[in-house]
Amino acid sequence: MDFGARFVLRICFLVLVATVPAWAAENAHFSVDASKPGVKIDRNLFGQFAENLGHGLYEGIWVGPDSPIPNTRGIRNDVVTALRELKVPNVRWPGGCFADEYHWRKGVGPADKRPATLNTAWGNVVDPNSFGTDEFMDFIQQIGSQPYVSVNVGSGTPQEAAEWLEYMTAAAPTSLEKERAANGHPDPYKVGFIGIGNESWSCGGDMTPDYYVSQLKIYSRFVENDNPAQRDSNQMLKIAVGPGFPETEWTEAVMKAWQHHDWSWSFDGLSVHWYTTPGGWPLSMSSTDFSVDDYAKTLKTTLFMDEFLRKQESVMDKYDPQKKIALVVDEWGAWYKALPGTNKDFLLQQNSLRDAVLASLNLNIFARHGDRVRMANIAQMINVIQAMILTDKEKMVLTPTYYVFKMYVPFQDALFVPVAFDPGTYTQGSNTLPRVDALAARDVTGKLWLEITNLDPEKPIDIDADITGMTIHSAKGQTLTAPQVNSVNTFAAPNSVVPTPISAKINGGKLTLTVAPKSITVVSLEP
Ligand code: AHR
Repeated sequence: MDFGARFVLRICFLVLVATVPAWAAENAHFSVDASKPGVKIDRNLFGQFAENLGHGLYEGIWVGPDSPIPNTRGIRNDVVTALRELKVPNVRWPGGCFADEYHWRKGVGPADKRPATLNTAWGNVVDPNSFGTDEFMDFIQQIGSQPYVSVNVGSGTPQEAAEWLEYMTAAAPTSLEKERAANGHPDPYKVGFIGIGNESWSCGGDMTPDYYVSQLKIYSRFVENDNPAQRDSNQMLKIAVGPGFPETEWTEAVMKAWQHHDWSWSFDGLSVHWYTTPGGWPLSMSSTDFSVDDYAKTLKTTLFMDEFLRKQESVMDKYDPQKKIALVVDEWGAWYKALPGTNKDFLLQQNSLRDAVLASLNLNIFARHGDRVRMANIAQMINVIQAMILTDKEKMVLTPTYYVFKMYVPFQDALFVPVAFDPGTYTQGSNTLPRVDALAARDVTGKLWLEITNLDPEKPIDIDADITGMTIHSAKGQTLTAPQVNSVNTFAAPNSVVPTPISAKINGGKLTLTVAPKSITVVSLEP
């Protein structure tokens, strides 16, 4: 072949490469019957966890009133503004493992009188106790949320926990009520939830199930909410410790005891912890430096959440067929190796598009288990594990996971609507996964919301959805994707992974749209 012919062939090849997409789109067909709404997708499924750990509270939330970082009574304004957008329904505090070594009295009263203690749960760093009960409640009020307070069962006493609740909630003029008023808070706080211990089978005291059950009875009997506004309605819910492993002996013991409870004690929720730790312990997966094989392995690992919940639910159903006790996934998320050069006890990791996809898969699983799973708390809110927000002194960046939570706000308290679809499969290395996932719900205004997760990192999907049970006139949506599965937002480039508008068509009750590879899409369909 002479040079001229080779040149023409080469041009033809280049034109072909430029005009044919890298991968042809796959297809998926959905059927959504909007006239058959099911259980409520409890807004508490979108709860958060803020432990006294690393820079989760100190620097992430609390900078102190004298800081040059703009703040309101010591709480950073940029973080509050960002969190208000998420309509965070509840925040679990102060731990985690830290909760079972926290003595609340050290964190109330004038700042200069508070003792410095050691945070022996996380890195033995000095804890100034400046962010205590009143500061946490201020933070909760600033972001418009509800407190979920974990009381100390490990190294505390029932009396200490009872007095803490009295300090927070008493309206009658007791000395603890007066102490709270003298600290600047005359009105009792509303405490929506208390956790009775944390991982009591491990860091919370390495208890046997029977020993924990005896503690649970005592704490649930004596740790009371004294706020008159929570007596007849908005009652405080008590959450017992459940397992952080798939085996069900612990759940058996706690639920069996509950089945025989009398008037004197009870609880309302059973907490479980399940993290996505691809490769297990010790942690080996990087939060930034990973391949598409690692991406598939991580998503495959996270999908175990469904089976994990089923196992616990089957035991709960045996002792509580009416589903009075909620399953509360109050620690979940992707947990990777700490970022190089950081204190490994601070659990600081980056957050990529992979984590956004993983978050949507877990939220969809929780919603599908919504008759039993009525609360969940991602670990953790700021600067720790799968965070919404990362900060570095005065700088702040919102993570891909933050944007997923923002896109899911319309699902809070909406009614679950079943979506029938064939998820198909995609295979990457030794992992075969569903190609697509979806969630639908109807909100109080009658709008239908449809979420679509495309797990496949290479192929777009052409979606066509038959919508019955309501007449749809318009559709608009947003999608979250990025060039790579490990694309991240940084302080220098904060907008690499942010939602963008997506177009969708409605034609005779059928919705059509194309979702990008490795993406999360939320579409609102208006009657
Ligand atoms: O979220 C970090 C830790 O993980 C929590 O303190 C503990 O409860 C769990 O093991």
